[in-house]
Amino acid sequence: MNVDSKKIDAFLVELLTQVGENLREDSIKKMSVGTKKNRNDLVTNFDKKTEKFINTRIKEAYPEATIVSEEGYGDLVKDMSGLVFFVDPIDGTMNFVKRGDDFASMIGVYIDGEPLIGAIIDVTDNEIYHGGKEIGLFIDQKPIDIPKNLPLIEGLVDISAPMALANKFDVQEVVKKSSGLRVYGSAGIIFGHLLTGKEVMYMSYLAPWDLAAGRVLCEAAGMSVVSIDDSPINMLESQVVIVGTQKVASEALKTLKAR
Ligand code: IPD
Ligand code: CA
Ligand code: CA
Repeated sequence: MNVDSKKIDAFLVELLTQVGENLREDSIKKMSVGTKKNRNDLVTNFDKKTEKFINTRIKEAYPEATIVSEEGYGDLVKDMSGLVFFVDPIDGTMNFVKRGDDFASMIGVYIDGEPLIGAIIDVTDNEIYHGGKEIGLFIDQKPIDIPKNLPLIEGLVDISAPMALANKFDVQEVVKKSSGLRVYGSAGIIFGHLLTGKEVMYMSYLAPWDLAAGRVLCEAAGMSVVSIDDSPINMLESQVVIVGTQKVASEALKTLKAR
């Protein structure tokens, strides 16, 4: 399939610019908050409204594409053939509700299973991380300087709070070998930190929409995106994922107990 990556990238930047404007306005309006799997798994009227808005725009521009999205307005996607858009309308909904910052909106695009273009907006800072392997990486219009391939001992790691607290997979051993632990509560915000060299690893149990955009961007920056047992990433399932510099990812895989 022949696709114009630059055109998709420009489309995502325009779309997320609009989403950012809407969400900054929404956050001062009346919010209704519900729960999903547990009391800390939140969903708001704005998660739903934003997903409907994004999915409608994608279907208008790319009617042949399928959409995997979090809040139920996407398609039932069974395989990765053709153009697949992954949509996380608000990533870090807990931060959105409780703090009003450190949340993102993310769209990742894959073609026949291959990462193509990713875009993440840090909504409060109004910055968009976007691009891909073919076209390069940018924050808004500015090219991103590819982060150094630092080892674990030289960098901060971000691990989801439940995983770090439960010492799942012996993950605290990884923290001990690093410069320290940070927990930001939004995959999108953390992908921004990885792309700008502020942190060297992220580890969490991630759904397809949590991972899709960040995987495109981080792989294009030469980083590793691996599953805990080093099996191939399945973009249609949730899994424990390590994203980091090549050195850190391989050190983490050696340190962690996968079972
Ligand atoms: C969550 C955030 C969080 C990660 C969770 C995700 P949501 O996304 O990215 O950092 O640890 O696994 O579910 O639910 O706010 O879109
Ligand atoms: Ca979300
Ligand atoms: Ca998410």
